[in-house]
Amino acid sequence: LAGYLAGLALAAEDDNTPTPQMTVQVLYGSQTGNAETLAEEFASALGESGVGAQVRSLDQITPDELPGMGHVIVICSTYGEGEMPDNAELFWDALAAEGVPRLEGLKFGVIALGDSSYDDFCQAGKVLDTRFEQLGATRLLPRVDCDVDYEAEAAEFTARAVELLAAEVPEGASGAPVPQQTAPKKKRSKWNRKNPYRATLAHNRVLSGPGSSKEIRHIEIALGDSGIEYAAGDALAVLPQNDPALVAEFIDAAGLDPEMVVDGEPLPEVLRTSYEIRTPAKELLARLADSEPHGELDSLLDSGDRVALDNWLWGKDTVDLLRAHPRAELSPDELLGMLKPLAHRAYSISSSPLSSPDRIHLTIAAVRHRSESREYGGVASTMLADRVGESDEVGIFLQPNAAFRVPEDDDLPMIMVGPGTGIAPFRAFLAEREGRGAKGRNWLFFGDQHRSCDFIYEDELTAWSQAGVLHRLDLAFSRDQVQKVYVQDRMRENGRDLYAWLEEGGHFYVCGDATRMAKDVEQALIDVVQVHGGKTADQAVEYVNELKRAKRYVRDVY
Ligand code: 2AM
Repeated sequence: LAGYLAGLALAAEDDNTPTPQMTVQVLYGSQTGNAETLAEEFASALGESGVGAQVRSLDQITPDELPGMGHVIVICSTYGEGEMPDNAELFWDALAAEGVPRLEGLKFGVIALGDSSYDDFCQAGKVLDTRFEQLGATRLLPRVDCDVDYEAEAAEFTARAVELLAAEVPEGASGAPVPQQTAPKKKRSKWNRKNPYRATLAHNRVLSGPGSSKEIRHIEIALGDSGIEYAAGDALAVLPQNDPALVAEFIDAAGLDPEMVVDGEPLPEVLRTSYEIRTPAKELLARLADSEPHGELDSLLDSGDRVALDNWLWGKDTVDLLRAHPRAELSPDELLGMLKPLAHRAYSISSSPLSSPDRIHLTIAAVRHRSESREYGGVASTMLADRVGESDEVGIFLQPNAAFRVPEDDDLPMIMVGPGTGIAPFRAFLAEREGRGAKGRNWLFFGDQHRSCDFIYEDELTAWSQAGVLHRLDLAFSRDQVQKVYVQDRMRENGRDLYAWLEEGGHFYVCGDATRMAKDVEQALIDVVQVHGGKTADQAVEYVNELKRAKRYVRDVY
């Protein structure tokens, strides 16, 4: 950013001689904020090379604007099963449609972000890249597909692309950066995946009550001397370590020698800190299948039936699979070569810096289940729950999410839908609004299975209601009556008021399960707009799309 600002200053100094300009459009599609951060970094690198840049989300433009843009860099993540991030979805629908303008004069480059443990790795970036080419645009350089450890590859692409773009600036033209509409973002924290801050766990208690099928915990992490400045809506990345008991089982199941040394470190230590050993890597699955031709795994992989494969894999971990395929006889090198590096886990922060500047709060469900012979635990969630004692250290870094924020205007209403641990960022939002003394009204939809044991943060929510911070609270406890009741049912029941809040300029937020809840909530939102806004189905969809474009409908879903 410093370079970007310097670029602005330079541009201001010599703006007495009007010159033609070249401005690169840096367009991002971001779900958790990484692509957005990269886009800003790309723009500042352009600025340092004297090339102008404008950063926007893909949904802030339409394909009709592309032909006039000259140079476009797209930085897009993929989420879920190969899906577009929320702020790229409308743009993609329009770009994929028939009748979009040709892009012959356009030069472009794509950074695709993804997670190679999913089948549709980097799918969103790939289809954008292909579509630009189909429409006649010219690739400045080949697309880069980045895995969860994207930093180095993205930086390499950026350096190379900036060089190529700088060479494109026409003779005598100035590449004065176009000022961004938004306020300059905060400086990026120096802590990252490669260099995490070793924070201490300051507090850890169970929120859910006896009888709950879940174990939801309130965790507080002390920021100490990290200098981390977070905002309500950000996520915290935690670097997990495997359970030593699981490491021992893994070594045994794989027939490895526990005394073995890898790169100067004892094998158990390497497996504990560096490799994903709970979830089987794709390559390993294929290798194990090969060792038992026509076995169950082999047949499922051959059938190409992903649902059947997922069902079969459900509840099994790498240890189970290794034990079931004793004939695989993997050498240590072969096995380690197939394991994926242990990745960080990101959690939506449940506190606001206004009430908790020195400690980040998390609201985490400890993932556990058991079979007849073994217990299984989520890698990071059970580490935080069981294996990190208070005042022990845990590696963290901040994942800013600039798209997920309380309304800038304190007077606007806010509607939040966050069942289960989806409540986390909304606890942060309520604390933020209280801290700001915001007058806008706040409405929370919360739910879970049972009121008696799953109504987490009940005391705080009650206190906020009494203090006039939380104006409406609608609850959906799905299993307290014969008929299931979900948050989207409460939205429909209160549709008239919900629509009125939207009409007053309200912002609508969703956090939690992406596959079912968030989709049903979106349908309920469309239905509410149709019924209470007196609209056709198409008009209702367009109304909701407009909320997305205006960034008044944003989601933090996983
Ligand atoms: P259920 O498990 O009783 O069906 C948090 O997990 C809450 O979300 C639970 O009450 C759960 O209900 C509910 N839930 C399950 N599927 C849902 C869906 N499609 N939409 C909204 N809530 C859902």
